[in-house]
Amino acid sequence: MDGLDALKKKYLDGILAAADEAALEDLRLSALGKKGEVALMMRELGKMTPEQRQQTGPVLNALKDELNSALAARKAALGDAVLEERLRTEWLDVTLAGRHRRQGSIHPVSQVTEEVTAIFADLGFSVAEGPQIESDWYNFDALNIPPEHPTRTEMDTFYMHRDEGDNRPPHVLRTHTSPVQIRHMQQYGAPCRIIAPGRVYRADYDQTHTPMFHQIEGLALGADLSMANLKWVLEEFFSAFFGISVKTRFRASHFPFTEPSAEVDIQCSWDQGQLKIGEGDDWMEVLGSGMVHPKVLKAGGVDPDKFQGFAFGMGIDRIAMLKYGIPDLRAFFDSDLRWLRHYGFAALDQPTLHGGVSR
Ligand code: DAH
Repeated sequence: MDGLDALKKKYLDGILAAADEAALEDLRLSALGKKGEVALMMRELGKMTPEQRQQTGPVLNALKDELNSALAARKAALGDAVLEERLRTEWLDVTLAGRHRRQGSIHPVSQVTEEVTAIFADLGFSVAEGPQIESDWYNFDALNIPPEHPTRTEMDTFYMHRDEGDNRPPHVLRTHTSPVQIRHMQQYGAPCRIIAPGRVYRADYDQTHTPMFHQIEGLALGADLSMANLKWVLEEFFSAFFGISVKTRFRASHFPFTEPSAEVDIQCSWDQGQLKIGEGDDWMEVLGSGMVHPKVLKAGGVDPDKFQGFAFGMGIDRIAMLKYGIPDLRAFFDSDLRWLRHYGFAALDQPTLHGGVSR
């Protein structure tokens, strides 16, 4: 059996020295594969006498087992080595300082829109939307602003292009959020309670005007809603928004789409150039409002004999400036990162019902 011992030693040494799984597989095939050395010897058993077979059979089987377990052991060891190597090279020092990443911020207009929406939602108002490119019917006629009405020119409207020879009135960039009133009435009728925040456009540019700005429209229709309800809703809103009880003052005014109409001021004080809302005996104008004109109800398909209600419109940017002490409207839309970092909000500054967020 010297030959067998040599064979065994050859394979056991080879297995121990195998550098990877491929080398191991080669060794396995040449020893135990179909035409492997051990397999061929086993085939010889058939030609032996029963006595020889009884002696050689177990020896060959033992050799086969021994080689198989040597192969398995080496395979496991190689696997461990690969893992060890990965652990050695792919390590991470979790005690190192993190890499600093600058976070973006929420724009004050977005933040204030969310704050206003949260407060009105609590008062039972839902949010409506309309397109920023409007037909002149929705933007003007349906709101009782006929073609020759001075409001059309006063609003510094941006008109869209019409091809030459196309005599239909051009579409406009909506000059206010009021057309959403009409669209909502047409689609859902009355009664209703909605606000409609969004972008509006007018050709105007100075410290308090930008060609694009934001408004929020309100509309509430019911069987017997009155100016008293309007006043209550607005005082509730401003008190929640500014986080302090705020009185309002209604001044008679004129808008084509409301009758009667009122401009609304909120109570404030100017103390050494510092504005304080909700105290003192000065007043600051913040919005336009009134009882929805019967012609406007009709344009929206609502029967003025059955329903009446109030509407209002205010500038979102403007109340954002008042609440957060931002002096220049133009800076809102300059995309200056320093400004955005200073006046922007963290993503987790969730607006609350009681006065937005504390900063
Ligand atoms: N649409 C008006 C504007 O842009 C604001 C306004 C005034 C809206 C009175 C209203 C309202 O709904 O009732 O100046």
